[in-house]
Amino acid sequence: MSIEAQYSVEQAVEEKVEPLCPVFGVCGGCAYQDLPYPRELALKKEQLLGIFNHELDLKGVVVDDVAASPEPYHYRNRLDLTLLRIRSGDIFLGFQPAYHRNVVQIDSCAISRPEISAFLPELKRQGIAKLPDNYRTANLVVRTGDDGRVAWGGIGRRSCRLSPDDYFWTEVRGKRIFYSLDTFFQANLAILPAVLSTLDRLIGPAEDATFFDLYAGVGLFAVGLSDKFSRVIMIEESSSSVDVARYNLEYHQLKHVELIEGRIEDTVDRALQAAAGTRRIGIVDPPRRGLSATARNSLKAMTDFEQLYYLSCNPESLARDLKEFVRSGWVLERIVPFDFFPKTKHLETLVKLCHQES
Ligand SMILES: C[S@@+](CC[C@H](N)C(=O)[O-])C[C@H]1O[C@@H](n2cnc3c(N)ncnc32)[C@H](O)[C@@H]1O
Repeated sequence: MSIEAQYSVEQAVEEKVEPLCPVFGVCGGCAYQDLPYPRELALKKEQLLGIFNHELDLKGVVVDDVAASPEPYHYRNRLDLTLLRIRSGDIFLGFQPAYHRNVVQIDSCAISRPEISAFLPELKRQGIAKLPDNYRTANLVVRTGDDGRVAWGGIGRRSCRLSPDDYFWTEVRGKRIFYSLDTFFQANLAILPAVLSTLDRLIGPAEDATFFDLYAGVGLFAVGLSDKFSRVIMIEESSSSVDVARYNLEYHQLKHVELIEGRIEDTVDRALQAAAGTRRIGIVDPPRRGLSATARNSLKAMTDFEQLYYLSCNPESLARDLKEFVRSGWVLERIVPFDFFPKTKHLETLVKLCHQES
């Protein structure tokens, strides 16, 4: 952590507020329930800059303030919980922080959507009824969407598979996007319109461009921005996400969107060649660990791309990857942090990369 960030942590200590949650600091989830929200946002920006300044030269780069979540509490549409049977036979439901043998029991979660909190007693009842006698523990996932339905899985093969009629959905800027229990989807639905609008604005007019949605998941960006482009190419490796992405494309009848199932490492070079000669714009949104060396090498070599956006939930892997992009001639133009995970230590960051002449 940079000196500035450490200083801010000390300052922040003097500005405490009452946390909403009785297990704050114990369950391993939240870090900042005891800070006023504006202070949390300022602190997150300082921490991001501390990490970035260590790896990158930010001279001339526009760094926005952290965009606040419309809901600083009660925003998560998904919780990952542990059901644990102890020696006495009693079964508990709660969070299992790293390196903890027991669970921290919860009756509600202040950062989860109220529908999920309200469902927790029922989840515990249903989970206990389903837990096989010879199971000591099970990892449960419980999720909801815009319509407030709650579903869960985690005990039994295919228990997280939903049929299309049961897919969750959220409406982002007038477009319904479906997701499931066994697909990745952003945990904070309320902030997604701001992210899509920011991308829309930063990209500008692009009717003649091909858009690459890499690490596409169920197609949040491909579908959400599909109207902007003449052609869209998505790449995603998870078969569950690909199934739901297909459903999203059919639901919106998006004939100009191609979906490639496979690893970026194995597919991206060919996909890029297929669109050679056209104006190309892309977004990469990899998992926390960032880009593999193979993926990074392919992507940083795309010097004829007009604009590339990198969205990341991990400032450290992001800074590492950006450093490599900059070494290959890419220019950092703008950094737009979004508070996808209020009250926790996590931060989502969107970075716009381009070339000197653009
Ligand atoms: C952080 S999620 C982003 C998904 C989507 N952009 C969204 O916002 O909902 C990363 C996605 O990349 C996929 N993925 C992980 N490694 C991959 C790889 N090597 N090649 C292709 N997809 C990958 C995961 O299955 C997951 O859906």
